[in-house]
Amino acid sequence: MGSFLLLSAAARRLEGKVALITGGSSGIGESTARLFSKHGAKVVIADIQDELGHSICEELNPQSTFYVHCDVTKEADVENAVNHAVSKYGKLDIMYNNAGIVGVAKPNILDNTKAEFEQVVSVNLVGAFLGTKHAARVMIPAKKGSIINTASVCSTIGGVASHGYTSSKHGVVGLMRNTAVELGQFGIRVNCVSPYLIATPLAKDFFKLDDDGVYRVYSNLKGEVLKPEDIAEAALYLGSDESKYVSGHNIVIDGGFTIVNKGFCMFSQS
Ligand SMILES: NC(=O)c1ccc[n+]([C@@H]2O[C@H](COP(=O)([O-])OP(=O)(O)OC[C@H]3O[C@@H](n4cnc5c(N)ncnc54)[C@H](O)[C@@H]3O)[C@@H](O)[C@H]2O)c1
Repeated sequence: MGSFLLLSAAARRLEGKVALITGGSSGIGESTARLFSKHGAKVVIADIQDELGHSICEELNPQSTFYVHCDVTKEADVENAVNHAVSKYGKLDIMYNNAGIVGVAKPNILDNTKAEFEQVVSVNLVGAFLGTKHAARVMIPAKKGSIINTASVCSTIGGVASHGYTSSKHGVVGLMRNTAVELGQFGIRVNCVSPYLIATPLAKDFFKLDDDGVYRVYSNLKGEVLKPEDIAEAALYLGSDESKYVSGHNIVIDGGFTIVNKGFCMFSQS
């Protein structure tokens, strides 16, 4: 509750807004829940890690932060989470489809099972579809809203993660573009944020990272290490009125990782 009071009313960029964040119990989602709350939003955390979600809400502010169990692969859960946000806080301004899994690391497609592929697509892409659909259900009558999806650098390049993950994240960007066109008619903006590697539980497990996120490949931007808070700042921008004319974008936050092929580059690389 302490950090919630730190910003003056004028500095709070989401004052009066209601946000629902899937995957809000950990990593990028948790960080975003904290930042949104600090900026005056009422926040609903929707996740399957119930204990973590409840404890974050308790710590932030039980009056303006709420946890709901929601498996994003289940339409009834997503519908229920959106309904909870509306019944508790009266509306939904920001839907952040962030929940994701990375799946198993199998470099050979012949070892990949259909079930493993479908599981990743089900959480990452179908989950974003259901979140967008049910957010649109309540945002269309209000004629406004901001829908944000966490995609990944894997939405623009291949070879970094599993086939299921890369396919799902490319799909999330397609979903974002299509829904931005449709929902723009109702004043609803739809965008993606696409992070490079961050040492959250998801990435630490998949890439066997240490706590600092030290990994053998770095972006070409030296001197900084990407943190969940950096993605939360981008989501804050997309959720706030400062981005009121921004729709259909995939904001890639990767320190330039995806703009260069290090195998054919005239600048020195270490
Ligand atoms: N960490 C990275 O390097 C990185 C890079 C690019 C994109 N991303 C994306 O960021 C998003 C957040 O991941 P993170 O890195 O914060 O990982 P994380 O593991 O810390 O958080 C993911 C959250 O999603 C929740 N979740 C998983 N399956 C769910 C389901 N079926 N229903 C509801 N919630 C579910 C988890 O319980 C967890 O709280 C994901 O979409 C991920 O693909 C992460």
